[in-house]
Amino acid sequence: MVLDVKTLEKEAKKDLQAVQNLKELDDVFRKYLGRKSELAQILESLSKLKKAERVKMGKTANAFKDTLNQLFDERRKALQTANYKLQTRAEDWLDITLPAKKVSTGHLHPLTLVQRQAEQIFHSMGFGVAQGPEVENDWYNFGALNMPQDHPAREMWDTFWLKPENPKSKIQNPRQHLLLRTHTSPVQVRYMESHNPPVRIIAPGTVYRYEATDARHEFQLIQLEGLLVDKQISVANFKAVIQEFYRRFFQKDVAIRLRPSYFPFTEPSFEVDMSCLMCGGKGCASCGHAGWMEMMGAGMVHPNVLKAVTYDPREWRGFAFGMGLDRLAMMKYKIPDIRMFRLGDLRFLQQF
Ligand code: DAH
Repeated sequence: MVLDVKTLEKEAKKDLQAVQNLKELDDVFRKYLGRKSELAQILESLSKLKKAERVKMGKTANAFKDTLNQLFDERRKALQTANYKLQTRAEDWLDITLPAKKVSTGHLHPLTLVQRQAEQIFHSMGFGVAQGPEVENDWYNFGALNMPQDHPAREMWDTFWLKPENPKSKIQNPRQHLLLRTHTSPVQVRYMESHNPPVRIIAPGTVYRYEATDARHEFQLIQLEGLLVDKQISVANFKAVIQEFYRRFFQKDVAIRLRPSYFPFTEPSFEVDMSCLMCGGKGCASCGHAGWMEMMGAGMVHPNVLKAVTYDPREWRGFAFGMGLDRLAMMKYKIPDIRMFRLGDLRFLQQF
C-alpha cells in the first residue's frame, strides 16, 4: 500500500481553491478526510503491516492528515470571512439609533372638523341636530318654503333636477319631482312637520348648486341650517346667538352686521356679514375688497312656512339661518380658494 502524499496534496489544494461555499467545502472534506477517503483506509489498515513499515507509514499518514486539516481550516475561515463581508455590505448597514419612520395615519377632513366644532358649539347652546335627504323633492325644497310653482325666487337657486324614471310622464305632483337639494332649509319643514313647537335645531349637510365654479363658488357645499321657534322670539335673539357662535368658533370677538335681504321663507330677511378675517376688514381679494364677508342668509320664519307645517303663526315665532361651512372653514384656516377642499390633494389635506 502506497500513499502518494504529493499528488494527493496537490489535488486537495486544487479542489479547495475551487470550493465556493461551506457546503462544497464539506463535500471536499469528505473526499479527503471522510471515513471512506484513501487516507482513512490507509490508517485503518496500518495494523496489518509489519512493525517497521507500520511506524513509517503511520508517521507519513498522520503528518499528511494534519496538513490536510490545516488546509481545510484555512479555507473554512476564508469562506466565513467572505460570507460575513457579503452580508454586511454598506448599503445594508442599519443605524438602529435613528428615530423610527412616521407611519401616516388618517385624519378628519377640514370641513368635517369645522362641522363638528360648529355642532358642538350649537349643542352647548341647546340646539339638537336634525337631518334630511340630499335627494329632495320640489315641495320641500321650494313649495313648503313659500315658493309655489313659477315663483320667481326659485331662480335664486340653480338646481340639479333629476329626470323622471319615465321620461314621457309629466309629473304633476311636486312631491314626485326630485332634485338635489339646493339648501338645507327643507330640513326645517321636515322637522317641524314631525315635531311640536318649541323647536331648537341645526341641520348640517351637503347641498348642490348647478353653477360654474371659481375661487368662491362650488357646485357642492356643506350648509348648516339653524331654526329656533318659540314664543316672543325676535331678531335680537338671533343676533345674540350668532354673535356668541362666532365668538366661540373663532375664539375672539368678531364684528358682524345684518344687511336687509330677501328670502321667500323669511320676513324680514337679512344677510349676515362678518368683518373679513383675512385682511382685518381693510379689504382684500378674498372679500372682494369690501372688508366684509357674506357668511349666511337668515331671517324671521315667514308665517306661510309656519302655516304649511300647521304651526299657528299668531302663537309661534322663530328665526332661521343657513350658513356655508366651506366659507367658515376658509375664514378659520385662511384658505384662498374654495375648490381646494374637494381636490383630494394630499399636500393640502395633510396640513390639518
Ligand atoms: N337657504 C338659504 C340659501 O341657501 C339660506 C337661508 C336664508 C337659510 C334664510 C335660512 C334663512 O334658514 O332663514 O341661500
